[in-house]
Amino acid sequence: MLNVPRRNERDTVTVQTSQRTNRVADHPAERIFVDRWSPRGFSQEQITEGELRTLFEAARWAPSAYNSQPWRFLYALRGEADFDTFLAPLIEFNRGWAQRAAALIYLLSRKEFTPLGKTEAQFSRTHSFDAGAA
Ligand SMILES: Cc1cc2nc3c(=O)[nH]c(=O)nc-3n(C[C@H](O)[C@H](O)[C@H](O)COP(=O)(O)O)c2cc1C
Repeated sequence: MLNVPRRNERDTVTVQTSQRTNRVADHPAERIFVDRWSPRGFSQEQITEGELRTLFEAARWAPSAYNSQPWRFLYALRGEADFDTFLAPLIEFNRGWAQRAAALIYLLSRKEFTPLGKTEAQFSRTHSFDAGAA
């Protein structure tokens, strides 16, 4: 018989207090969830195009309705001419922290998809959810 440890029997898999913040979880959860936060402070380090593409590679395996994969990513690295173009539409508060990010990414989602075996495109009620999952 396989002796596979139950998840909550493994070392420090679940936690109730964050190491990064003053968060206290109501129930044990993996640290990756309890510690996550929305960063707005950036080190000004650069990210390479290759590192960014690894992130997109991970994203594009996300699930989507009818496997329609409605997402498209537009990006600009800080230092590139397009970076300011990407920064401009943001509200002032967001421009304040986003200008120090290594890359700005716009995530687009296609509102219509054509089901397998059909020729007519139809509205996708889940396009933004699917893109958000990516
Ligand atoms: C749909 C959505 C829109 C958000 N918009 C902004 C935003 O415009 N500016 C910002 O600084 N944070 C934004 N946030 C981040 C939230 O403020 C943040 O996730 C929330 O306060 C919880 O904090 P945490 O992510 O650090 O746990 C947004 C989050 C979501 C889910």
